[in-house]
Amino acid sequence: MNILGINAYHGNASAALVCDGQLVAAVEEERFNRVKYAAGFPSAAIRYCLKEAGLSLSDIDHVAVPRNPFARLGTKIAYAVRMPSFARERAKVLVKFTGIPEALTQAFDTAPAQLKARFHRVEHHVAHLASAFYCSPFENAALLSADGLGDFASSMWGAGFGPHMNIHGSIAFPHSLGLYYTAVTQYLGFLKFGDEYKVMGLAAYGQPEFLDSFRRIVKSNGTRFALGLEYFTHHRTGPEMSWAEADKTPSLGKMFSNALPRDLGPARLPEEPLEARHRNLAASLQARLEEVYLGMLRRLAGETRMKAVCLAGGVAFNCVANGKILSATPFEKVYVHPAAGDAGLAVGAALYVWHRVLGRPRSFVMDHAYWGPAYSKEEVRAAVNRANLEQGGFHIVELAEEELARKAASLVAEGSILGWFQGRAEWGPRALGNRSIVADPRRPEMKEILNRRIKHREIFRPFAPSILAEAAGEWFEESHPSPFMTMAYAVKPEKREKIPAPTHVDGTGRLQTVSHDANPRYWRLIKAFEQQTGVPVVLNTSFNDNEPIVCKPEEALDCFLRTQMDALVLGDLLITRS
Ligand SMILES: [Fe+2]
Repeated sequence: MNILGINAYHGNASAALVCDGQLVAAVEEERFNRVKYAAGFPSAAIRYCLKEAGLSLSDIDHVAVPRNPFARLGTKIAYAVRMPSFARERAKVLVKFTGIPEALTQAFDTAPAQLKARFHRVEHHVAHLASAFYCSPFENAALLSADGLGDFASSMWGAGFGPHMNIHGSIAFPHSLGLYYTAVTQYLGFLKFGDEYKVMGLAAYGQPEFLDSFRRIVKSNGTRFALGLEYFTHHRTGPEMSWAEADKTPSLGKMFSNALPRDLGPARLPEEPLEARHRNLAASLQARLEEVYLGMLRRLAGETRMKAVCLAGGVAFNCVANGKILSATPFEKVYVHPAAGDAGLAVGAALYVWHRVLGRPRSFVMDHAYWGPAYSKEEVRAAVNRANLEQGGFHIVELAEEELARKAASLVAEGSILGWFQGRAEWGPRALGNRSIVADPRRPEMKEILNRRIKHREIFRPFAPSILAEAAGEWFEESHPSPFMTMAYAVKPEKREKIPAPTHVDGTGRLQTVSHDANPRYWRLIKAFEQQTGVPVVLNTSFNDNEPIVCKPEEALDCFLRTQMDALVLGDLLITRS
C-alpha cells in the first residue's frame, strides 16, 4: 500500500512516501529547485520519492494532502463577507489546491486514467499532530501543534493512543503564537520569511523588560490565549503571504499595526543598528512566548495526565522554549518532528491516512532524519572529476571509514573548517551530520571565522553543538535526547569555556545528540575528535551559504570552492587544499 503525502502551494513544499506503513522518503522541494522555503508544486520532490521506492505514479494507492478547505468554513465565510480581498486570495489558493490531481498528472506526463490513487484531505493541524505522534516512539502521548496559520487555525491539541488521535481543542485565526512572533520579528527589522530564528537568537542578549507590554500583545488566561488585535493587521487584511507562487520564497506583508510603535517605541528599519532596546524587545517577545507556550503545555499535561508530549508546527522550532519543557511542565518525554514546519505536513498527512483512514496499526518510529537523496560512490567520483580539482591544486584521497573519521577529526582539531557530506540528505531545516559544516568547538574565535569565511550570518546568531548522545548528561544540564536539534539546554557551567564556539551568550546550546545507531559515520567523526581532544562535541552548521542546504555532490563542491572551507569529506573522499 503506497501513500504519497504532498505539501503543495504552501511554504516549504514537500513530498513524502509511506509504503506499508514505513516512511521510505521525504524531502523538501527547495533542495532541488534551490529556492529557500519554496512553495508551488513539489514535482521534483515527488519524483525523488517515487525513484527511491522504485515506483511510478500509477503505483500510488493514496495521495494525502494536508489541507482541508472545508475546515472552519463558518469562520472563513464570516471573514470573507467582511473582507472581499481576503476571499479573493483564499479563492486563488483554493483553485490551485483543488488542481493537485491535474498538477500531478501534468508533472508526470501521465494520463489521468492511469492515476488510480484516492485523494484525501487532512486538516493542516491534524497533519502536524500526526507528523509528531506517528513518528514518535510513544504508544500514548499528549499532542500539540503550535503554529502560524493553516486551515484557518493556529494551534491544535489532543491526545494520541496507539493508532488513534483525539483532538481536544484548537485556536482559530486570527489568534496565533506564530503570527505574533512573526509580527514582532518584522517590527524589529527582520522582514524575510523565516527570520524568526534570528530574533530568537537575539533574545538571549537582552532582558525581558517589556514583558508587561507583551502580556497585552498576547493575552492568556492560563488555558487559552488571544492576541491583542489592536497591535496587528493580519485580521483586517488577511495574512498577505504569497503562498501560491511557484518557485519563489514566500513573502509576507506587514503584520503589525501602529499600536506597536506607539507603545514600544519606533520600529527598527533593517539597516539600523541593533541597540539594547531591540535586544530587550526580543527578550520580552521570547519570554512572553515561553509563558504562553509552556502554559498551554502545562494545561495539556494536566488534562491528559500523560508523561510524553509530541510537538509540531512552526512554533515547535523554538528550541529555547522546548528546552524548558522538561523543567517547567510535568512532561518527562518530548518528541519534536524534525520538519516541524509545514514541510512535515507531507509525512503527517500520509501517516494519518495509513492509521486513521486505513485503520492500520503503528509500526514506524522516526529515530533519524535521513530521508532525502543519497548519491553513489560513482556519482560522487564523477562530480569530483568534473570539478577538475587535482589541476586546481587540491589533494584527493579515498579512505576507509575509521581512517577517514580520524583524519577528518584531526583537521577539525587543528582548526580547519570541514565540509562533511554523507549518505541521505536530512529531512527538515537542520543539518544533522550528513550535509554539515564541522568546526572546532573549543576555539572562541571559530564563530567569527565561520561567519567571515563561509556563512555570512548576523554575528549574534549562535552555532550549534553536535555531541555524542552518551556524553550529553556530562556536558549539559539535561540529557533528554535532542536528535533533531530542536532543544536548547544549558551547558554545564564548568564546560562552557571548553566549548565556547557553540555556547550561546546565555550559556545554552541548541544541541544535536548523536547516537551511533542514528548516524554511525557522524558518531565516529565526533568519537575520533573526542579521542584526540577529550571533547565529545563538534560545532555543526548547515552545509550552505545563504541558500538551501546542499543536496547533491556538485552543490557541495561548488560551496566548498566558492567559500573558504579548508577541507571537504565527500562520501569516502577527503579533499584538502594543498
Ligand atoms: Fe503549519
